Amino acid sequence: MEIKKGLSEKNIGQLIDYANNDEEVKRFTSDAGRFKNRESYDEWLKKGRAIYALVDEEDNLLGITWFGKEGEGGFTLAIRTYERARHKGFSYNFLKETMNDFMKGDEYQGAENKEWWLETSKDNSAATILYEKLGFRIDGEGKSFEKVIYRRRPGFVS
Ligand SMILES: CC(C)(COP(=O)(O)OP(=O)(O)OC[C@H]1O[C@@H](n2cnc3c(N)ncnc32)[C@H](O)[C@@H]1OP(=O)(O)O)[C@@H](O)C(=O)NCCC(=O)NCCS
Repeated sequence: MEIKKGLSEKNIGQLIDYANNDEEVKRFTSDAGRFKNRESYDEWLKKGRAIYALVDEEDNLLGITWFGKEGEGGFTLAIRTYERARHKGFSYNFLKETMNDFMKGDEYQGAENKEWWLETSKDNSAATILYEKLGFRIDGEGKSFEKVIYRRRPGFVS
């Protein structure tokens, strides 16, 4: 298993497949729209997110993280672990390592607002446990009643 920056063509195909068919991804994320097909993936790429992949020895996609600036509110992140790698304890190191790598880069280092935020479902226990371990705390309601905003102040060291 290894972490790499960017996705191969094989990984992109698998990302689209999971987005459309993985029940937990469909339940907790908007990936079925974001990565509906190659065209929507290419459109999303224009946001310029930094993307990292967790892959096996044969370059099969086991997970993905991405990071980027979101509005005036600092930076946001996303993580997915897929089927074979999910609920097996890989998410903390995967997110921590890729987030730390992103934070060393010019985009983050040069930003005035270094705060992190994200929105998640209240009942997504694996996600909320993970974010809290990484220093995120609830900071208000999300777009809908079952969602919450998590924020991490700059200076948190994991
Ligand atoms: C959210 C997600 C990335 C977490 O990764 P994961 O591989 O499930 O998590 P891990 O196995 O590393 O476990 C993380 C923590 O959650 C707990 N956990 C794992 N699966 C759980 C489950 N089904 N129910 C409750 N807690 C769970 C673990 O015990 C661990 O806590 P600990 O560190 O105190 O032991 C993954 O579940 C996922 O991709 N889900 C679908 C997409 C998604 O929801 N993404 C996030 C959207 S905001």
